[in-house]
Amino acid sequence: MSLKSIKEANFENASVLVRVDFNVEFNNIGEVQEHFRFDIVKKTIDFIAQFPGVKIALATHLGRPEGKDTEYSVEKLIPAVKQALGREVIFVPDCIGEGVNTALANLEENQILLLENVRFYAEEESNDMNFAKQLSAPFSFFVNEAFSACHRAHASVVGVAMCIPAYAGLRLLQEVDTLDRIMTVPEHPAIAVIGGAKIETKLPLIQAFEKSFDAVLVGGKIANEAIDQKIAFSEKVLLPKDFESSMRLDIGPTTIGFYIQMIKIAKTIVWNGPMGKFEEKPYDMGTNAILNAILESSAYVVIGGGESLAVLEKAGALSKIGFVSSGGGAMLEYLGGNMLPGIEALKN
Ligand code: 3PG
Repeated sequence: MSLKSIKEANFENASVLVRVDFNVEFNNIGEVQEHFRFDIVKKTIDFIAQFPGVKIALATHLGRPEGKDTEYSVEKLIPAVKQALGREVIFVPDCIGEGVNTALANLEENQILLLENVRFYAEEESNDMNFAKQLSAPFSFFVNEAFSACHRAHASVVGVAMCIPAYAGLRLLQEVDTLDRIMTVPEHPAIAVIGGAKIETKLPLIQAFEKSFDAVLVGGKIANEAIDQKIAFSEKVLLPKDFESSMRLDIGPTTIGFYIQMIKIAKTIVWNGPMGKFEEKPYDMGTNAILNAILESSAYVVIGGGESLAVLEKAGALSKIGFVSSGGGAMLEYLGGNMLPGIEALKN
């Protein structure tokens, strides 16, 4: 069943709750480190805001707070949200209750509400239906524009979609379409480059790519784990032939050369996770060599996952990639063939 797009909705004089994922990283002086997650919701907000008399509130989580912890208040996101969306942002110090109704009633044109962190309530993560009802009560429509949170069966992702008419945001639809297309009809040769840590989370992904792709190049900590655990793969899955040293903190020169040859002939490339301990020199050599080969290739490239995004942002290469998925865990689960509760909720 296909997802209902916001393009099918009439938001005239409506109040719309938009679930976004502004769960971003900060540097050590408290500045927002990544702006990608703000920028990607702009089209959807602009589309909804075209309707006369419409009022929009954004709901997000930030971090993993235990109860109301001001360190995780989304108030500090206001300048970044304002800059990305080009609208005045009014912060509401709660995500439920009378304060939300009052703020909505007072909202003026070109203003948007930003509700306090939904994870300040334990009921968010337990997908408590009572909480979902309170969250959705002031609104006539729900829009999910948080692909990267769709693997969480939480109240602001799943529960609210059961309470009021729910639509998919433009970015969420683009994520789903792109990832579906790449897995079902990739242009061949199609190559996946999978690195990072935690073999148990990456194994379903490697297995999914084994089915529809021509080769899966494995690096990073998961390569060591796969070797140590003697995991059996088909001949499509290539493990490193050598490492930079006996500590195995990066792939070695023979592997780098071999992987680059494969990347050069690819027409489709999906990359998730670094090839070594890239945040520490000289163990960034493998990751940088692979990144450069990918950037030079004319293949359609899809990248996702927090670490791969960090590598790209560091290299200033975000704009050179065909499609950058906002999802870390969500993308891994989706490509690994799992249904995402947030997406399923939009189908019902
Ligand atoms: C993410 O950053 O991957 C999402 O915002 C989900 O965050 P979580 O892992 O804390 O649920």
